[in-house]
Formats: sequence, C-alpha cells, structure tokens
Amino acid sequence: MNVDITDLKTVRLSQDGSAVIILDQTCLPGSEVYVSLSSAEEIWEAIYRLKVRGAPAIGIAAAYGIYVCSRQIAANTYGGFCSEFLRIKDYLASSRPTAVNLVAALDRMEKVVVAHSVNPVPEIVELLRVEAEAIRAEDAAACRKIGENCLSLLRPGMGILTHCNAGHLAVSEYGTALAPVYLGEERGYGFKVFADETRPLLQGARLTAYELQKVGVDVTLICDNMASTVMRKGWVQAVVVGCDRVAANGAVANKIGTSGVAILARHYKIGTSGVAILARYYGIPFYVLGPTSTIDLNCPDGDSIVIEERNPKEITDMWYASRMAPEGVKAYNPAFDVTPHDLITAIITEKGIAYPPFRLEDF
Ligand code: MRU
Repeated sequence: MNVDITDLKTVRLSQDGSAVIILDQTCLPGSEVYVSLSSAEEIWEAIYRLKVRGAPAIGIAAAYGIYVCSRQIAANTYGGFCSEFLRIKDYLASSRPTAVNLVAALDRMEKVVVAHSVNPVPEIVELLRVEAEAIRAEDAAACRKIGENCLSLLRPGMGILTHCNAGHLAVSEYGTALAPVYLGEERGYGFKVFADETRPLLQGARLTAYELQKVGVDVTLICDNMASTVMRKGWVQAVVVGCDRVAANGAVANKIGTSGVAILARHYKIGTSGVAILARYYGIPFYVLGPTSTIDLNCPDGDSIVIEERNPKEITDMWYASRMAPEGVKAYNPAFDVTPHDLITAIITEKGIAYPPFRLEDF
C-alpha cells in the first residue's frame, strides 16, 4: 500500500484529554476536517449527524466522550459524581439506537464507576480514561484478527462486493469488513472491490471508495441497483459486510440494503422463459465481519433489534442541490435492515469463523 490509511485518525482523545477529536465524515471525500468535541451536546450531535459513524467508531467516541464529560463533573462526592455520570451516559446512549457498540462501550465505562465507589473522584476519572483507551486498543486488535480470519477464506484475485462502509473510517484501525482487503493488499492478493454506493447517505461512495482508493486498492463504485449485474457478470466471488448488532440467533442488523445483497448473493436468478423463471444458484458466499462486542446475546432475534428511522429529508432533499422528490411526498427512511441468519455463510469475529446454525457458544 502506498499510503497508511490509519494516519487518518477517525476518533481519538486530544493530548490533554479535554476533547474528543474526530475526522468529520460528513465532509468526506471533499476535505479532511477534524473537529474537537468537548461537551456532551457536541458529542451527541456528532454521533447523531454521522460525523462519526460505524458501530465500533461510535462506541469508541462515546467512551472517550463520557471520559471528557466526567472530567467536567463538579461534584466531589461519589454519589454526586455517579448521578451526573449516569445522566450523561443515558443522554449519549440516546444518540443512535441500533449499533450495540454504543451502549456496550458506555456500560463498560459505567462498570468502572461502579467498581471503584471507594476511590476519590479524580482517580475514577483517570480509570475512565484508561478504560476508554482499552476499548480503542481492543477494537484495533479485534479488527486485525477479523481480517486474518476472513483472509483464510479468500483467494488472490477475487472480486469482493461490499455495502456501506465497514473500513478504517468506521473503526479505530483496519476496519471489519475491509480488514481482509487491507491485509490482502499488503500481501499482494490483488482483490478487486466493488463498493455499493449505499443510498441514501452514500457511505459506500463517499467513504469506502475514498479510503480504498487512497491506499491504492482496486475499487469500483457501483450504484446499489447494479449489484446483481456485476454478480451476473461473474465479477464477484465473495460479499463482505459489517454489522451493527448481531442477535443471538445470528440475524444481523447492518446498513439498509444489506439484506438485499445477501438475497442476491444466495439466489441470483438469471434468465426468463415464458412464465418459467430459471433460477440459477450462484452461491456467492456472504460473510459478515464484526467484533464480538457487536454481538448482543440479550437480543434473541432480528425482530428484536430496534431499527433507527432517520429524517425523511435525507432521501428527498437534504443532500441535494435542489429537491429530488415532490414537496410533501411521504418518505420512509430506515437506516438499517436485518439480514436473516439463513442467508449468512459465516460470521467472522476476532475469535474465529462461525458457520450456521449459529449457536450461542460460537460467540
Ligand atoms: O449509519 P452508519 O454509517 O453508522 O452505518 C454503518 C454500518 O452499517 C456499518 O456497516 C456497520 O456499522 C459496521 S462498521 C464496522
């Protein structure tokens, strides 16, 4: 690779610990702008507006964020500190509902507060910094392992289709779904990546195409409705996607449109003759890559996952120079969908590769 993508720091703590510094992803690919967040409101807004996005990255941002806010809590009794900490925690947790990493990271931070009730407040605050750094470091290590595990299933020269952005920008370092692509690039695998543009917010076009092109990976941008065409042409040998929440039965919530790609990969249909549709089974493997921190064993199935519904303006006019839909039209804008477990070839975590039927002990 000619450039080290990790030079772009998606989310980090400022040197003096007083702010979370994020690469504002709403400005990409046009410009690399870093913003400094030092209040709970700024951190909430950055997560809600997708300035920092991707399940692991929002978990890390929230962990650093609650540390930064804890430094500002005036109370010096444990009780006073704790109740303000919990208020901020609930507030930050309300920024986005689907990715489990957000709440999981905040829960981890809360455990530090609860476990050290006899320590002076400044010591608890310092332990929060250590925990937030550990969350970031664990994410980086997990992503690398996810990459190695997935690479063992891929062969040089393969065409790989991905949806949304589950790369460096969505995590701390190599990404989840894109980790095998980065490792493969380092080892001369010569993968050819097809990036779904990912309507409506174009994480594929703005972010995946950007970060892969930046390091010299062979990446081709396609519109979401072109996936079946590139599969039909035989250009895709594997699909890799990330995940926002994996239910205990293996159902996966990820960016809206993911389940459609899974259906295509499993049952690509070609040819029509009279009323008979000749189904041809391509059997392209559909891999979901994510850290075990994204698996929610308290969530029994896909129907139990809360799917975020975002402002309808995002699909009618917000990101366009002029309106793209008639004034007043009803619009439905779910941010994620659920891919049923029976469409998934394997779920790849830092611990290994789980094949169906997915069992609790796999995770
Ligand atoms: O709405 P976003 O951009 O946060 O959605 C991101 C995704 O759906 C990713 O695929 C997922 O978070 C995995 S990131 C490693």
